[in-house]
Amino acid sequence: MLIKLKRGWELPERAATPEAVFHDRRRLLKAAAAGPILLAAPALLTACDEAPAPTARAGGAVAAEPDPSAHLYPVARNLRYRLDRDQTPEADATTYNNYYEFGSSKNIWKKAQALPLRPWTVVIDGLVEQPFEIGIDELLAKMPLEERLYRHRCVEAWSMAVPWSGFPLKALVDLAKPLGSAKYLRMTTFHDPEVASGQKAPWYPWPYEEGLTIAEATNELAFIATGIYGKPMPKQNGAPLRLAVPWKYGFKSAKGIVRFQFTEIRPVSFWEEIQSSEYGFWANVNPNVPHPRWSQASERVLGANHRLETQLFNGYGEFVAELYKGLEGEKLFM
Ligand code: MTE
Repeated sequence: MLIKLKRGWELPERAATPEAVFHDRRRLLKAAAAGPILLAAPALLTACDEAPAPTARAGGAVAAEPDPSAHLYPVARNLRYRLDRDQTPEADATTYNNYYEFGSSKNIWKKAQALPLRPWTVVIDGLVEQPFEIGIDELLAKMPLEERLYRHRCVEAWSMAVPWSGFPLKALVDLAKPLGSAKYLRMTTFHDPEVASGQKAPWYPWPYEEGLTIAEATNELAFIATGIYGKPMPKQNGAPLRLAVPWKYGFKSAKGIVRFQFTEIRPVSFWEEIQSSEYGFWANVNPNVPHPRWSQASERVLGANHRLETQLFNGYGEFVAELYKGLEGEKLFM
């Protein structure tokens, strides 16, 4: 069982960080190390047993303004990727979400509708032949769209199985033309606290960032999802671009990406920066390596009344185990 700790938004007033500190990420974390913010931060991803959102469960994806990419979907399914379980009902996958930009509860789908999806410009830079920016519709037109059925395992020990539409991350890496010196790919989420009120919370190191090695990013499983259930991606699930790396805990799958940066230095991701002993860079799923505060041996299946045993690499070892040969000294499962 989980120990339910205080959440970030339960911070007492006196723990709030002064505005000036909020604007300086490094200084904030230093300040946090000395004060009560640090005590609150590791309590964030503990909500395994939270009940699904009580609202809007009947209609599936939330009706919002028409998405300009709607005509692209549905796309043909790639049958190479199969599920060992039923698909999660659409109404569950689209109303039980983690998107801290819009709040730390699971019921953020309504708030997420505030996110404008056009214009949406993606920056591709860092160690590439030529940095460039590209509008989302031009990017979608260049990418080979397909549908894939993937399992998704949250570090909080719940899981879902959904049909993502999108394109292999490798196609974007090829478009970017990284230099030989690039070792990592850093992905950064939009930053607009006026739209995403969660980004006003000063105890988080905004914007949300995640990273992969180039070998991981070009592995055939790494996928940029742009749709779900044969439709454009709902905002609460990460529209217009979100990562799907199904062999890793769900926090690696960054939503609302605006920047892909190729680097030589390993990126420090959002949750790693908050609490590296609980949320590391690799974060590969392993039932035998417990989270410091709960077991990872089994998972609650979203939309069903049962638990399943968790599998090593979330069942995707045949595709990814090779990536970690020789890295046994790393904390691969945290
Ligand atoms: N991406 C951003 N930008 N912000 C977030 O809070 N949460 C992560 C991941 N991507 C998160 C994010 C976590 S913890 C999980 S489990 C998944 O998104 C949840 O994806 P879902 O809401 O589509 O199930």
